[in-house]
Amino acid sequence: MTNVVVVGSQWGDEGKGKIVDWLSERADIVVRFQGGHNAGHTLVIDGVSYKLSLLPSGVVRPGKLAVIGNGVVIDPHALIAEIDKLGKQGVTITPENLRVADNATLILSLHRELDGFREDAASNSGTKIGTTRRGIGPAYEDKVGRRAIRVMDLADLETLPAKVDRLLTHHNALRRGLGEPEISHDAIMLELSSVADKVLPFMDTVWVLLDKARRKGARILFEGAQGTLLDIDHGTYPFVTSSNTVAGQAAAGSGMGPGSLGYILGITKAYTTRVGEGPFPTELHDEIGQFLGERGHEFGTVTGRKRRCGWFDAALVRQSVAANGITGIALTKLDVLDGLDELKICVGYTLDGQQIDHLPASQAQQASAKPVYITLEGWKESTVGARSWADLPAQAIKYVRQVEELIGAPVALLSTSPERDDTILVTDPFED
Ligand code: GDP
Ligand code: IMO
Ligand code: MG
Repeated sequence: MTNVVVVGSQWGDEGKGKIVDWLSERADIVVRFQGGHNAGHTLVIDGVSYKLSLLPSGVVRPGKLAVIGNGVVIDPHALIAEIDKLGKQGVTITPENLRVADNATLILSLHRELDGFREDAASNSGTKIGTTRRGIGPAYEDKVGRRAIRVMDLADLETLPAKVDRLLTHHNALRRGLGEPEISHDAIMLELSSVADKVLPFMDTVWVLLDKARRKGARILFEGAQGTLLDIDHGTYPFVTSSNTVAGQAAAGSGMGPGSLGYILGITKAYTTRVGEGPFPTELHDEIGQFLGERGHEFGTVTGRKRRCGWFDAALVRQSVAANGITGIALTKLDVLDGLDELKICVGYTLDGQQIDHLPASQAQQASAKPVYITLEGWKESTVGARSWADLPAQAIKYVRQVEELIGAPVALLSTSPERDDTILVTDPFED
């Protein structure tokens, strides 16, 4: 297939960045279509680590075009800072290799502040989400509320003041309610004018660009952020992010029609992690959970928070396979399981004495669902850096086959270390 959509099939941090970087060798264009700088994608190339939050992971490869689509919420300060940071690592970003959708929504400092005010207030009442405090939720609220400032507004100084007034009427009412100081019109105008010159050179009509590229036969790689269980509709609501993270959003969030999306690749960690609050049926509070966290270096890229760890939950990933229309998966971090005596996989749940095969949508039921496990034998050999099936111990292959069978999707790629080239290719998503 010509195009590939990469999505997270769990709660984020599945290794999307590594896989997108690996696949981008085969692509012409790499497109982000939702989320913002709440994402943290780490790539390791010849021992050098690159941490990306807002920029598509394809940006580190020379000759590829990186695109930020309309579905992304863009903090212009974060964008400028990330371009500068990568520049210091030798990755030059110019309008030649980065385009930003003119109709994408901006995250302003007032969004970041509101996110923080709410999380602080919720900490006291026990209703905290554990957001990344980047202003993601408040910015999407303004987009849906039809009062957002968008990238193109930076170029239209005549109509901008009225838009800022509309936005401030809403935000200052919220801030008064929270007992926080109001913001002046001039402060927002100053903020916007301080970033306009740096952001506008990247602005483009992305749907036109993608349409032309598609007609010429370009290979387009869509890079999802977060994961399916963090999707605003399909995730563990309200402990989710504020965008649709599923593959269908690649179309709406870029302006390319769903018929052109192609292969849907679900990035799937060989165990489960989650950052922030919310239900997690297979979470381990014992020494095995600690082992996974330490061996897997499970600390958030964006906030540095410790990720919660647990067994692989096949019931959840089976749900993701359905919600995304996953064609195949990239199974990552198999190496982290090396050395464990036995491995458990969740195949369903019990709830009120009944067996169920998927996690219900109700928050209360999600919190009380108990996992049903099968147990597999572990392996003692190291799989770190394995680059072919032949390098994998028989028990590791058995584990992979069991995962495929339980989730109902085949493994297309298998990752055995953070390094770009420690990747086993089973089926090339661009050729399938
Ligand atoms: P993303 O948000 O989905 O892009 O994932 P993150 O980059 O936040 O987290 C995945 C972490 O695991 C990163 O530090 C990667 O370098 C690392 N990683 C990716 N694949 C593998 C793998 O197969 N084995 C190991 N040990 N680490 C990996
Ligand atoms: P990547 O792309 C893991 C989580 C936050 C919080 C919830 C809402 O690296 O996989 P938000 O700031 O989005 O309003 O926070 O979503 N979250 C992530 N967890 N990986 C991510 O991105 C995440 N982005 C947001 O921890 O629980
Ligand atoms: Mg991440």
